[in-house]
Amino acid sequence: MPRYAYVNGRYLPHAQAAVHIEDRGYQFADGVYEVVPVYKGILVDEAPHLDRLERSLKELRIGMPASRSALKLISHELMRRNDLSHGFLYVQVTRGVAPREHAFPEHARPALVMTTRQTKPHGEEMLRQGVKVITMPDIRWKRCDIKSISLLPNVLAKQKAAEAGAYEAWQVDAEGRITEGSASNAWIVTAEGAGVTRDASQAILNGITRQSLLTLIREEGYDFQERAFTLDEARAAREAFLTSSTSFVLPVTRIDEAPVGNGQPGPLFGALRAHYLEYMAALGEGE
Ligand code: PDD
Repeated sequence: MPRYAYVNGRYLPHAQAAVHIEDRGYQFADGVYEVVPVYKGILVDEAPHLDRLERSLKELRIGMPASRSALKLISHELMRRNDLSHGFLYVQVTRGVAPREHAFPEHARPALVMTTRQTKPHGEEMLRQGVKVITMPDIRWKRCDIKSISLLPNVLAKQKAAEAGAYEAWQVDAEGRITEGSASNAWIVTAEGAGVTRDASQAILNGITRQSLLTLIREEGYDFQERAFTLDEARAAREAFLTSSTSFVLPVTRIDEAPVGNGQPGPLFGALRAHYLEYMAALGEGE
């Protein structure tokens, strides 16, 4: 069965799907994206992902490429055509095609691309052992709340992690506080036992997984704070973990060369991952 991509109004075989060479996404990274997880054939948190897409577009003064209901129809049709059960939907919107000039073109229409990718769930081994993160200076721009396709600092950070045998790179701001990973949000449980994740501001992407997990945390009554935490606090933490649409909730058991706590995934991580998986499983019920 061929895999399809959606490009500006057409479903095309993935290998033949292409955009114009003067698409502003290609020339200026002038666009935004979303990665929506697919779990057991269901789009997880579709509405908040669409909300964030609309917000990112608005911040950059790019129009919606189609109505929300059309975007939903296209994504469901693409998932159906690609028989997607586990993985993610990728949505990219750019300012469109125009002769190369930095300032906005007058007549360009937003360009829309959607693809899907089937992935395997994380292995048991990774969940049992946890992953390593490295730390490095955050060299990104000052609007990390916008899910821009301009990802060079994130690419360089992730590459550095890969070369160090690590899963992720936690970025540290000029005040020595962790902002987030290159493609995930960062969480710790402090030496005193309080859960902490950085507050949503222009310094981080407000992850949808982060928001859903915070809702579950409040419902379950755990003690959690949304505030900046330092690298020193992270190094002294009992537990650490990360969240994203592709990793869900994943334990971090090493920061640079040192183990986190006893070097094993912690109990709070275990409880929260279980709650999150229950939450995702429940989304499919009642359909
Ligand atoms: N990345 N922070 C950054 C910088 C991210 O790129 C992401 C997601 C997150 C987590 O957000 P969410 O929970 O909504 O996935 C935080 C996606 C998965 C990516 O770029 O592939």
